[in-house]
Amino acid sequence: MDDKELIRLAHQARERAYAPYSNFLVGAALETQDGKVYLGCNIENASYGASNCAERTAFFKAVSEGERHFAKIAIVGGARGDEACSTCAPCGICRQVMSEFCDGKTFIILLEGEGGEIKRFTLDELLPFAFEKV
Ligand code: THU
Repeated sequence: MDDKELIRLAHQARERAYAPYSNFLVGAALETQDGKVYLGCNIENASYGASNCAERTAFFKAVSEGERHFAKIAIVGGARGDEACSTCAPCGICRQVMSEFCDGKTFIILLEGEGGEIKRFTLDELLPFAFEKV
């Protein structure tokens, strides 16, 4: 799918964010290698540590539906009311979850810049020398 379209879907996912504690809303759109898209948002909890990031929501939805082959993910995030969103890079735990299921050299992470431009990274660029249990 076109990068711009995947970013648009991430914004759509962000509308469903449940973030009453941080008021920081994040959306993710994860595309499989055969072109299916799974959306995810952050889901917070009164016990803060029980919260889940948007990226992991998307991955866990997809993996639990049997998906194993992923092409790219678009991520957008920003404070409530800041619909333009500044660049929201994935946290370390989400990068590690991506590395469990994705090839570091080919999996693409799309982020949106301040002016709406799209930044493109491979997983290896954002998580070099990843831990692997092999
Ligand atoms: N968050 C995400 O959903 N993804 C990230 O990559 C960074 C942080 C969420 C977690 C929490 O609900 C809120 O943003 C503030 O940290």
